[in-house]
Amino acid sequence: MKKNILVIGSLNADISISMEKMPIIGETVFGETIKYSNGGKGANQACAIGKLGGNIEILGCVGNDELGKKQISNLVKYNIKTDNLKIQEGIPTGTAIIYVDKNGKNSIVVIPGANNFCDINYLRKNEESFIKSDYLVLQLEIPMETVEYSIKRGKELGKTIILNPAPAPENISEEILKNIDYFTPNETELKHLAKLEKIDCIEDIEKGAKYFLDKGVKNVMVTLGENGVLLVNKEEIKHFPAYKVKAIDTTAAGDCFNGAFVLGLSEGKSVEESIVFASKASSIAVTRKGAQDSIPLREEVEKVKD
Ligand code: RIB
Repeated sequence: MKKNILVIGSLNADISISMEKMPIIGETVFGETIKYSNGGKGANQACAIGKLGGNIEILGCVGNDELGKKQISNLVKYNIKTDNLKIQEGIPTGTAIIYVDKNGKNSIVVIPGANNFCDINYLRKNEESFIKSDYLVLQLEIPMETVEYSIKRGKELGKTIILNPAPAPENISEEILKNIDYFTPNETELKHLAKLEKIDCIEDIEKGAKYFLDKGVKNVMVTLGENGVLLVNKEEIKHFPAYKVKAIDTTAAGDCFNGAFVLGLSEGKSVEESIVFASKASSIAVTRKGAQDSIPLREEVEKVKD
């Protein structure tokens, strides 16, 4: 039987602009296309779990506006429980401006808006959702004290905790790290958070991952884009290659990976099987534009050959 997943995180309205090359400071460039879509790291991860068939609820906050309504109706379409989302009066739904270059790489600016109102009091009122869940999935686009509270409460209740440390803050407290079961930085986040001088080779990535194991994280999974994923824990260091595809937009590929990974665990797959499943899902996501729109359905992932 599938277990229950609770995502606590951000919901944004994304404006993605594709261009040949990103502008540098002081430069003006022409964009090619513009796309409006539903995004936000929390909502994207919840959407991946919903699209792939998981039992999923999201807690977070949107404004009482059209963008918030659009976001909720998209999540509901994929059977994500949104009943307990907070609707904040007088504050707009979070927005993200995304630049995507010709190689599908992106730069993102997030204006948090209502996401900043995803506070501890609101979560206390939704204690029932914590109790009912088996897996708690978090990212860092909501206030840090809310993340700290969620992880602490989740652990007290015996839940499995997944933290995707994006966007990377200056520091993450040891109090948080010691309670994390799965920590999923990308290379840039790992370099910054583990205070590495450089990442030139796999040994540098291992060194960064071990920094977090020493702080009490149980499993570190570093997502390396077209170079796959490195799993590091006390028992093993294992590299999982990526599925070869032509990337056109990598927005939400990490979110798709995180969501699909937890979905795998919730269905009783092993960590290794869940990583393979999630790598397949994100290999499809990078071939499509946008955030939630790019996340594949279950049957599409199942068609990807090993
Ligand atoms: O991870 C991609 C997401 O980051 C986008 O959907 C955007 O909203 C930002 O939160």
